[in-house]
Amino acid sequence: MAPLTIRTFLSRGFALSRVNASAKHQLNSLGGKCLYRYSVPVGTRSQSTITSTPIPEITDHFPNIRTHEDLYNLSVDQPEEFWGRLAKSRLQWQKEFTVVSESEVATGSFRWFPDGDLNVAVNCVDRHAALTPEKSALIWEKDEPGQEQHVTYRELLDMVCRLANVLLSEGVRKGDRVALYMPVCPMAVAAMLACARIGAIHSVVFAGFSKEALAARIRDASASVVITTDEGVRGGKVIPLKQTVDAAVKECRAVRRVLVAARTGAQVPMGPLDVSLEEAMASASSECPPATVGAEDFLFMLYTSGSTGKPKGIAHSSAGYLLYASVTHKHVFDYRPGDVFGCVADIGWITGHTYVVYGPLANGATTVLFESTPTYPDPGRYWETVERLRITQFYGAPTAIRLLIKHGDIWVHKYDRSSLRTLGSVGEPINHEAWHWYHTVVGNGNCTVVDTWWQTETGGIMLSPRPSAPDAPIAPAMPMRPMFGIRPILCDEKGRPVQGNDVSGALCIQSLWPGMARTVFGDHKRFMETYFNPYPGYYFSGDGGHRDADGFYHITGRMDDVINVTGHRLGTAEVEDAMTEHPSVAETAVVGFPHDVKGEGVYAFVTLKDNIEEEQAVVLDELKKITRTKIAAYAVPDVILVCPGLPKTRSGKIMRRLLRQIAANRADALGDVTTLADPSVVSLIVEKHRQQNQAK
Ligand code: WTA
Repeated sequence: MAPLTIRTFLSRGFALSRVNASAKHQLNSLGGKCLYRYSVPVGTRSQSTITSTPIPEITDHFPNIRTHEDLYNLSVDQPEEFWGRLAKSRLQWQKEFTVVSESEVATGSFRWFPDGDLNVAVNCVDRHAALTPEKSALIWEKDEPGQEQHVTYRELLDMVCRLANVLLSEGVRKGDRVALYMPVCPMAVAAMLACARIGAIHSVVFAGFSKEALAARIRDASASVVITTDEGVRGGKVIPLKQTVDAAVKECRAVRRVLVAARTGAQVPMGPLDVSLEEAMASASSECPPATVGAEDFLFMLYTSGSTGKPKGIAHSSAGYLLYASVTHKHVFDYRPGDVFGCVADIGWITGHTYVVYGPLANGATTVLFESTPTYPDPGRYWETVERLRITQFYGAPTAIRLLIKHGDIWVHKYDRSSLRTLGSVGEPINHEAWHWYHTVVGNGNCTVVDTWWQTETGGIMLSPRPSAPDAPIAPAMPMRPMFGIRPILCDEKGRPVQGNDVSGALCIQSLWPGMARTVFGDHKRFMETYFNPYPGYYFSGDGGHRDADGFYHITGRMDDVINVTGHRLGTAEVEDAMTEHPSVAETAVVGFPHDVKGEGVYAFVTLKDNIEEEQAVVLDELKKITRTKIAAYAVPDVILVCPGLPKTRSGKIMRRLLRQIAANRADALGDVTTLADPSVVSLIVEKHRQQNQAK
């Protein structure tokens, strides 16, 4: 067993000079027309009563630190000092903390700034509305090209307060869960922040998930209110969001109210649970005093796939999460005041939470809400948007880059990208071709390209070339260096850290950091079993890593039964569970295989029951539909192979390793199959796979 090496740091009585006066927040009444139906108001100037000062630079706090390397060393050697100072200077507290961290790895109790109170909405909106009321907080890049809409900090505050009052009038209280099933739009951001304002916990469900996936998430969180829009629009296609919510809430008894905002203005049937959000907001007050929220109270939960069929509701704290979001946003992307930050992720994923909403808004930035797709109306969409909005940082996914490479450089060259300084990549390993194209074609060789590795559970970026070495060279296609405060290690099968360089192992984190998830909602045992028990004393990421000869990290891929399809995490067990509900299916085994655009594709090996009455082609079609309706479109298998049997050990365990190799066309390297109960099944599967490939 590995020794318990995570430091538990406890610093009662920790005292720092106060940078921000502990504010007695009075909520200001902001004048001006409010923002409904996404109209842009010509507001009157508003007066804020919140005192606010600009956020100082990190070097202001550590004047004696000369190099970034020294700063990194300080951050890992004296985390209380490092995070404590940043928390006091970057965040505005209702009650300042005296303790930086109280954490116990053995029980999985992680508490940062535990005796402090702060309201996340005040930090993301009020203090900037006081300082820069007319600055654009959000630029909504609607699906319809060329129709961007700006929302200023003053307007956002108005929306958040009214929406918070609507939630209060619906009986939502501190700690209650509110589910959001919405497209990327200002109302969705206002809804997240309105929850934060009253201390409710939001659970954003990606608006591409099916009715069943939505219902399961609403039930697991016992959400009492759901916020949605009439319809969504993506890539010119209309998505019937309200209709999906109607079907889902029939299966969720705890839901008391569905608030429906207008996105397309379509006439959707309104039932007894439904209320028009705009109408409710129009009659709500624009003043809403922020709730007193403990640093450790949950800000949100977000479901993510694991190796079992049931997604986990990852719960994040208020203060620690916000601090980590703010610091990583500033330092990884080199964010500077005046920048236009363009993260094109959907708010339904963690990247949308941390780098569309919380990180940029905590820093008082202008953040782009990108509602469309990379190829709508044509493959120049991203770069046309960059030119029109003068985007300075662009943050996207390798799968989109690979897709755009196929369409040719001409779509990039058409537009002026000279505003760009930093190009970020996230979600899956970026291959060399994509990295170089991003750097030379998109960035013209002038931009810093940052491959960022992190997870829903880590809250923010953990590895990236630029947090701790601003001038050091960047190697292509790897995240390279740890963020401030992060000590990555690689462990062998026995749970021991692997020393030296040019080594591989399970990627674990030895330090604790404020942005880390606190629990799996309602299931702390599962949290411990997944993240802390496999390598005692360390956080286990589920990914494999390699530390190269120079000591830099790159990610070798998931070590569990999770695959990464178009940058979205998908548990193979989720797909298997969905497919085995089909009456003709006996058994299934789902694996990932290399896919040149999606990163990984979904490959399903299926055995059918004897004497099935339907045609096989009909069953296969139904299986695709089942995965779409039970999970989401991205979960639909690219390949379904009907097999005579699955390769199992004598104890009945499916040997997925073999299936992965067959799916990747590497059947020539299957290795030892003698431990199988029936080794002959392997050659039958290989032959079927070959035939199916040829038939394509
Ligand atoms: C993968 C997304 C390689 C990884 C923020 C991780 C990456 C999972 C990278 C988390 C990267 C994310 N290089 N792999 N730069 N970034 N991953 O929770 O397998 O949706 O565990 O968070 O994506 O996915 P999640």
